[in-house]
Amino acid sequence: MAINIAIDGPAGAGKSTIAKKVSKELGFIYVDTGALYRTVGLNVLRQGKNTKSEEEVVPTLEGVNVSLRFIDGEQRVFLGDEDVSEAIRQNEVSMAASNVSAIPKVREFLFSLQRNIAAENNCIMDGRDIGTVVLPDAQIKIYLTASAEARAERRYKELIEKGQTVVFDEILKDIELRDYQDTHREIAPLKKADDAILVDTTNLDLEGSIEYMLKVIKERL
Ligand code: DC
Repeated sequence: MAINIAIDGPAGAGKSTIAKKVSKELGFIYVDTGALYRTVGLNVLRQGKNTKSEEEVVPTLEGVNVSLRFIDGEQRVFLGDEDVSEAIRQNEVSMAASNVSAIPKVREFLFSLQRNIAAENNCIMDGRDIGTVVLPDAQIKIYLTASAEARAERRYKELIEKGQTVVFDEILKDIELRDYQDTHREIAPLKKADDAILVDTTNLDLEGSIEYMLKVIKERL
């Protein structure tokens, strides 16, 4: 049976950076499920449709193929034959992803893809509802969080390093709005699973967070 580690938490808590490093260390694949919602969001934006409107979003799912491929252990996400791994990282795609993720048909559309990968691979899967909905039987569940300010600060630095022009207050506002949307939606809202271990990285740097996570996971494996 594959070993599954679920990591959930709000935007910018460091899930992907930490999970990537930890999965390499363990020899597991790392699955970033946010990339799937981002790909659906990107597709809706490209079609000029409203990402908040169920009537407009649902038809965009028809005939569309979203898939993950693992190349040299790195996840790449495809929209049809196009590798959109970079395109989905644009700032406006974040809110589009949060918007479309509140639509039940979108979650249904991406559900079995996530389940199948977890059934076949030892993996660390990160998202919002992995421990609660997608992999309720995961052997280890972690809820990774940090204060909104700390998360905004990290996201700001990341985007500046990528050469994007961004304003800190807008990043913070976006994070707070996404937190609100992700925790208040009716379907599969972001919340800590009862059996998840809470890890708060507000006062930890990246190295400290990775070390701590490895310790928590190795103790339980
Ligand atoms: O992890 P991320 O910031 O790339 O995710 C983008 C959005 O996708 C996030 O705001 C909410 C949604 N999402 C979700 O609803 N469920 C998941 N398992 C992963 C992401």
